[in-house]
Amino acid sequence: MDRDAELDVIRRAYAKQILAACGVSNRRIEAAFASVKREDFLGRGPWQVVRWGRGYVPTPSRNPVYLYDDLVVAIIPERQINNGQPSLHAALIDSAGPQTGEHVVHVGAGVGYYTAILHRLVGHRGSVTAIEFDAELAARLAANFAGVRNISVVQGDGARVPFDSADIIYVSAGATKPAETWLDRLAEGGRLILPLTANKFPAGDVRQGAVFRIERHGADFLARRISGVAIFPCEGMRDAESEAALAAAFEKGRVHEVTRLYRRDDVPDEDCWLRGTGWSLAFR
Ligand SMILES: C[S@@+](CC[C@H](N)C(=O)[O-])C[C@H]1O[C@@H](n2cnc3c(N)ncnc32)[C@H](O)[C@@H]1O
Repeated sequence: MDRDAELDVIRRAYAKQILAACGVSNRRIEAAFASVKREDFLGRGPWQVVRWGRGYVPTPSRNPVYLYDDLVVAIIPERQINNGQPSLHAALIDSAGPQTGEHVVHVGAGVGYYTAILHRLVGHRGSVTAIEFDAELAARLAANFAGVRNISVVQGDGARVPFDSADIIYVSAGATKPAETWLDRLAEGGRLILPLTANKFPAGDVRQGAVFRIERHGADFLARRISGVAIFPCEGMRDAESEAALAAAFEKGRVHEVTRLYRRDDVPDEDCWLRGTGWSLAFR
């Protein structure tokens, strides 16, 4: 068997393993993970991978087989900017539920591995807007999707650059609150995947918290926690006041009981899990 055929088999096994690891059974997502080549996005190996308890450890060689494990892989190790854990993203993408023909906005696309998976899921009739703040990464992102008709790459702050109404807004960096544009630009029935992280247990820049799924129905926003997370901060979307509100909310527990996001802060105390300025996460 030649190297490419061998990697095809390995990629198919990897897709099965990571979906099993996060308890997701979804043939379309499995097929997307089985077909997108992680090595095409992460540059030439050997790669630095995160081994729990040991930090970054180089892969033994530049054989792409080492990328097909449920591992976080460094993009810029000095800044702890990483290609996230496959099983986490498989679970988040499953929760976002990308359908053929939809428009996905990916905020914090990095060099585009998960953007490519989202693109595979919305297909040729769909479209993806990939936004990356860091200029060097945005240039790599643009090069990785050069000539792909239905992926637009934008360098900038994903909370501020304008974009068309989105069926999915998939945020891959930790904020302390939702951006107004993310809520405004969510289409009817649209889903926002939003990591909210507090300052507790910081490891370098990385912060821990939870990922929420927010679904829009008219002026109503259904909300629920879908995962824990440790992730790089979202530039421009962190402030001390919302940070404190978030830390206090995590401290009191009951995050699994959250069902709604409100764009107001006068929700009664007994219904409120988190009260920010002008927004709340609530139990009902
Ligand atoms: C944890 S990395 C994830 C990269 C990518 N999603 C992956 O897993 O390969 C977070 C990325 O978000 C970018 N980022 C942070 N704040 C941003 C913002 N306001 N708008 C767009 N990108 C942002 C960072 O530069 C970084 O590349």
